[in-house]
Formats: sequence, C-alpha cells, structure tokens
Amino acid sequence: MRIAVLNGVNLDVLGRRDPALYGGLTQSELETQIYRWAKDLGLTVECRQTNHEGEYVAWCHDALNWADGVVINPAAWTHYSYAIREAVELFEVPVVEVHLSNIDEREEWRRVSVIGDLAAVRIIGKGPTGYREALEYLKEAA
Ligand code: DQA
Repeated sequence: MRIAVLNGVNLDVLGRRDPALYGGLTQSELETQIYRWAKDLGLTVECRQTNHEGEYVAWCHDALNWADGVVINPAAWTHYSYAIREAVELFEVPVVEVHLSNIDEREEWRRVSVIGDLAAVRIIGKGPTGYREALEYLKEAA
C-alpha cells in the first residue's frame, strides 16, 4: 500500500519554529520517523514538502496516479487555499488531514480549514505522533 505524505509551506523550518507548538523535530527528523513508522506498518510512504502552492497542487495531481491513501498537512494553506482544496477534492482514496499543533485552540483564523470536510479523519495537536496515527488509519481504511 502506497501513501503520499504531503507537507506544506514553512514545514521545512520545523525545529526552528516554536517547539511548544510544533515540537522539536526538524523536517528531516520528522520524515525519518514517518518512514520508520511506515516500515513497521508495512506501508510504502513518500514524504514531500514544498513552500510553493502550485507544486503542492502538482504533487496532489501526481499522487492521484499512484497513492492508495494521502496524508496532508498543507500548513498555512489549510486556512485559505481553495486551489489546494480543489486538488484534494480529486482524490478518490482516503485523505487524512494532520496538524502538529492544535489549530482549533489557536488564533481565530487558524480554526478555519478549507479542506477539513474533505478529510476522512482530522488529527490535530498530537505533534509528530499525528502522522503515525494517520498511517495507522490509512492502513485500515485504504
Ligand atoms: C500547522 C498549523 C498551521 O496553522 C500553520 O500555519 C503551520 C503548521 C501545524 O501542523 O500545526 O504551518 O499546519
């Protein structure tokens, strides 16, 4: 089973961003964890991160061709990108929305997710463990 993990804008600077919100792992440490969890679960995962909205959309389109499930953390785009929403709408496989921080308990603007209703499950505020839960969910659901 192949899973795309698509991380969005500013997640490349994890480790420098507020660790109280996002945890202390760098992006590459997070990806190492995700690949380890995937191996334990018998899943094939491809992690990608970009700061370019169009590239994120292109990766959604690419994943349409091969992914059996998708984990998305579009980061700040979550809150306003209808372009990403429309790309995510194309998936016929289960999509899990993950956020490291608890966006429902932060600023008002972060409480809005323009993709939330497209997700089979939303995992919010669990730090890196949220990605493991997302993989576990997709293993059962996809
Ligand atoms: C985030 C939450 C977003 O509000 C924020 O813009 C991010 C990361 C999270 O994982 O907690 O960059 O998606």
